[in-house]
Formats: sequence, structure tokens, C-alpha cells
Amino acid sequence: MMENERDEQLEARQTFFEKQKLIESARVSFHLLAAVLRNISLYPHDHPILLASAEKFRDHLQKVLTDRREAAFYLVRGELFFETLAIPIDNSFSTSIDLFQDKDIGGVVFKPNIASDEIVRFADMMSSDIVFSSEQESLNVTTAKRGILHIVIHHALLVDRQIGKVIKARERKAADIFRDTIGALKDVVEAVYLEKASSMRKMNTVMQNMVDYVLDNRDALVGLTSIKMYDEYTFAHSVNTAILAVSLGTYLTFKKPQLAALGISALLHDIGKVGIPKEIINKPGKLTEEEWVHVRKHPVAGAIFLSKVPGISKLATVAAFEHHQHGEKAYPVIQGDQKKHPFSQIISLADSYEAITASRIYYSSRIPPDEAMQILIKNRGVTSSLVLLKAFINMMGVFPVGTLLKLDTGEVGLVMHQTADLMRPRVLLLTKFDGSEKETGNIISLVETLDGRYKRSIAGTINPTVAKINVKKYFE
Ligand SMILES: [Fe+2]
Ligand SMILES: [Fe+2]
Repeated sequence: MMENERDEQLEARQTFFEKQKLIESARVSFHLLAAVLRNISLYPHDHPILLASAEKFRDHLQKVLTDRREAAFYLVRGELFFETLAIPIDNSFSTSIDLFQDKDIGGVVFKPNIASDEIVRFADMMSSDIVFSSEQESLNVTTAKRGILHIVIHHALLVDRQIGKVIKARERKAADIFRDTIGALKDVVEAVYLEKASSMRKMNTVMQNMVDYVLDNRDALVGLTSIKMYDEYTFAHSVNTAILAVSLGTYLTFKKPQLAALGISALLHDIGKVGIPKEIINKPGKLTEEEWVHVRKHPVAGAIFLSKVPGISKLATVAAFEHHQHGEKAYPVIQGDQKKHPFSQIISLADSYEAITASRIYYSSRIPPDEAMQILIKNRGVTSSLVLLKAFINMMGVFPVGTLLKLDTGEVGLVMHQTADLMRPRVLLLTKFDGSEKETGNIISLVETLDGRYKRSIAGTINPTVAKINVKKYFE
């Protein structure tokens, strides 16, 4: 390995783990702040328990504040962020989050050299029935008057506007990555057709971008996989499979170079299909035995092709060869007991999920994501090991992005993001479910509570095709 390559790998690994460490540290800080906010209503202001909790929070905050000018927490639609990193919400902070929301506070920023008595005064202010202004200046006056000089609070409206912009920019970037990856894949396919030597340079670059993006924000890209591009299905299928495989890889904390190799292998797993006549690939109905003979050749054809491409991970060849090595209809048929490489198992899993959710594209119906998950669970232990399937379910959620949910309030919600709670994703609210539903533009979290109870819960799922709801338009 070249010296600078090793440096790059080391650096990539460090930034990934550093980010995870920062998220954990921010989560602990908020947990300690929640304890102070709880204690202020239980004890007198000079009680040692209250003071000790404020000191504990201050000490932890000081650590987070090393090398940074401030520690900023934001609350956006029921979700907690540290700077722009999403912090998994646990039950210990839900009351504090309610408190901030009730007071229309969307951001709390802590500055260095904060004293613990300021924290007590801040907690006292939060527990009073003061109504906060939406003007930043008067908010600053309110805190200054109480001797709170190292904590700045922001009104929810302002924070929503700012963070909303960041989220929009991210969504745009996800769409760019999707498009660029399709472009790079088309180049390789074209090279195969024309029997030209294909360069991996462009593909390596787009894969780096995909990996970086997934490491930062997994849900936005996974959300895009639920848009099936019918006209270019084979390309979209490959890109979707790559996104799902890389996402599972990040969930399993693979290192960056492994993630890139996994992504490229997933992107090219069906490259052997280039030799199959288009009429067979796009055939809506069942294939004849003769047509199947053609289809069954693609793992070997793909493996032979990939073994000749310079500069590509050997694992791409292995994965192309092995990705249909499961179940009763495994192909190609090989003798003896076979154990698939973990990469091949991940790709098989991503490939199956993608294919199930798209399998009815030529009929007008599609299998919704939650049903696809049920099919994978029914076939557990076949496509991949149980451990991998479990990780996949934990990552995707029981109700994956793109699932349409019936809520106990009579509303309909489309799953847009996962939260720390597998059963409580973030959803885009559609108006009452009476067939005339339309987007309301509100993304809410099912984690949100009111007076200690969940505001909304899942009452069931809805099949969008049966209900004639075009889910696709909400992801465009
Ligand atoms: Fe395949
Ligand atoms: Fe495939």
C-alpha cells in the first residue's frame, strides 16, 4: 500500500469515528441537561442534588466545548440535532424536548466558560411560565436580565427556517449523486457493449461521493431508492442496490475503503446482464424455460468480465458470481457446500429487497416496503445470514422509508426518515384519508409526545396502489 493511501484511509476512519464519538458525547450532554431540567422542579434551588446535576452537566459540556466556540443543540420537528448531526432521542429526554417545544424554543447554544449557577438559572427560567418572544434581540435581553450570559436561546421559527435550508440542500445533493452514479454505470455498460477497455476512474469518484454521503446522512439516499425509475429500470436497480448495500455497510461500521469496494461490487453485480437480449430483461410476464437459460448466465458472464477490469476490487468478481447463490433456484449450480462471502450476502439482500419492491413495475402495482420486509423475514436465513438480515431490518426500520401509514389520529403519514425508535419514524403528513389526500408539507416525528403521551401512533399500513396514492411524487 502506498504511504499516502494509508494516510488517507487513516484520516477517513478517524473522521468517521470522531463523528460517532461527537454524536455520543452530545447525546450524553443533552441527557445531563435533561436531568437538571427535571431536578429544578423537584428540589429547592440550593439543594445539593440539583447543584450536583448542574455541575455534572457543566463538566461534560466543557469537554464538548474543547476546540469549539459553542455547543449548539437544535430541535426541528421533534428531532434533536447537535449542530447538523442528528442525535438519537431516548426516553430520558422526551420530557425536556416537550418543554422546549411548548415554549417554542428551537435552539440552545452553550458558550465556553459557562458556570453551573447559570445553568440552574436557565433551568429555572425554562420551568417558569414565561412566554418567549420570536425576536432574537428580546430573547437575548430576557436571558441577560437573569444573568444568563453563556447560553443563547433561539426561537423555533428561526431554527426551522435555517435547518430547513440545510435539509433541502442535502436532498438536492442526494439527487445529484443518484444521477452521477447512473452516468458512471452507463459508461461502463457502454464500454462492455463496444468491447472497449473501461476505466474505473469515474466510477471510483462517484462511489467515494456516495460513501461520504451515506456516512453523513443515510436516510436521504435510501429515500431516493424508493423512486423506481421505470424507464431505466436496470440502471436504477443497480444504483438502488448499491445505496442499500453501502448503507448496510455503514450500519455495520465498515471502513471507508471497504464501503467503496462494496458499493462498486453492488453497482456492477448485474453487469453480466448486458449480454441478455433486452426483450427478456424487460419482459413483463413469466419467463419461459428457454429465456431462463439466458438469465442464469449473468453471474458467470459478469464475473468473467469483472475479472478482466484493471483496478477493480476482486470482491466485485466474487459478488457477481455469488449473488444468486441462495435458495432452491440458486444459479450457477456448483458442487459441494458453499459459504458466500459477506459482501455477496449483503449484495444479495439489497438486491432481493430492491427487486421485491420493484417486482410488479410492469403490472400497475408494487409491493410496498413494509411487505417486502415481511417477505425477507419469511425467507430468513436463505438470502443472507440471520445476523445480516437483523442488521438490515434495524437499519431500514420495520416501516422503511416510503411506507404509507395509517395513524391513530385518522391521518395518513408517508415514512420519510427513521428515528432511534424502530416503530416511530418521521412521516410526511397527508390530509385525512378520504381519497382526496394531498401533501400538507409537515414532516412530524412519531416520537413527539404531549403530556407524556405519544401524539400519534401507527394504526396500520396502507398499500398505496390499492389506495391509488402516488407515493413517488413525494420523493421527487
Ligand atoms: Fe442478478
Ligand atoms: Fe440484481
